[in-house]
Amino acid sequence: MSEGRTSAVLTGLGTCLPERIVTNEDLAGRLDTSHEWIHSRTGIARRHVADPGTSTADLAAAAGRAALESAGRSDCDLVVVATTTPDRACPATAPAVASALGLTGAGAFDLSAVCSGFVYGLSVAAAMITAGTSRSALVIGAERYSAIVDPEDRGTAVIFGDGAGAVLLEGGDADVPGAVLRTELGSDGTGNELITVPPGERYLRMQGREVYTRAVPTMVESARRIAESVGWRPEDIDAFVGHQANLRILESVAKRLGMPPGGLITNIEDVGNTAAASIPLALAQAADQGRLQRGDRVVLTAFGGGLTWGSAALHWPDVRPVHR
Ligand code: COA
Repeated sequence: MSEGRTSAVLTGLGTCLPERIVTNEDLAGRLDTSHEWIHSRTGIARRHVADPGTSTADLAAAAGRAALESAGRSDCDLVVVATTTPDRACPATAPAVASALGLTGAGAFDLSAVCSGFVYGLSVAAAMITAGTSRSALVIGAERYSAIVDPEDRGTAVIFGDGAGAVLLEGGDADVPGAVLRTELGSDGTGNELITVPPGERYLRMQGREVYTRAVPTMVESARRIAESVGWRPEDIDAFVGHQANLRILESVAKRLGMPPGGLITNIEDVGNTAAASIPLALAQAADQGRLQRGDRVVLTAFGGGLTWGSAALHWPDVRPVHR
């Protein structure tokens, strides 16, 4: 089937979560909200928050180092950092991350697709490996939402968390577990006011209810298309790993998709919405818990600001996540 074609194969998985944990109770102490409201509406119980001295590049480098270690590698020739919260408007975060990893000389760029950033990065890096432009790539989703969330806005302050997750992709055979089988990307800029840091302002504004309404059908359609494109029926999907924005969104997508119960992977309770970092963080927790087994048919689907969305399909490889 592969005819010797080079594919991008996921060979390493790493994460970095800041040590400090903020619980719903902590937030209820200073905002007009409650653990019950947050947990029942979102599924979130706690999130990690970076100290002011920790940058997005720090989180990204730690997750990237962990992904290299997980793959037993010390280098790669491309570093893609998907982030909504770059440390500076200019230059990009990725070159600093590459150098922090001892990879000065590697191609390095940032990618801005908000909560879909990881799937966008995976798609671009996989295509570059398949095209022969790169031999191996770190795809890192890294976020410090605490820098752009208004601490007084209960509509967003309870949702977002900080963290980073990364995968290493290497050229390999299209038939091996871990080979990225197919990706798809989409956008609808008519919705770009729904999740935005308005020009000249510091904080993120989100029309949560409207985003929710659009997220569910878009994620269902994207997941269904990617499954079909690789010849899987919804009931063939062993694990659905959606962007962790809201547990109710994920449950509703899984139900409408008609996939087997038990295949929905979620870690939102422990980390909140970590935007571009959310899918690799969820993959790592699921792999640690033994919920992802070699050969499982895995669908990744993201949706977020832009509006943007995307999906990827792969068979799960033998990979041991490393945490920093
Ligand atoms: N605590 C208590 N009450 C809150 C609250 C909080 N943290 N946040 C909002 N409320 C209130 C609202 O003021 C509103 O009160 P009202 O009915 O008196 O006007 C009520 O709860 C319902 O607000 P609403 O925004 O309609 O709630 P919701 O059920 O849609 O939940 C989100 C809000 C943000 C959790 C939900 O819309 C969501 O998850 N949206 C999707 C986010 C997303 O996918 N983002 C994409 C990627 S980043």
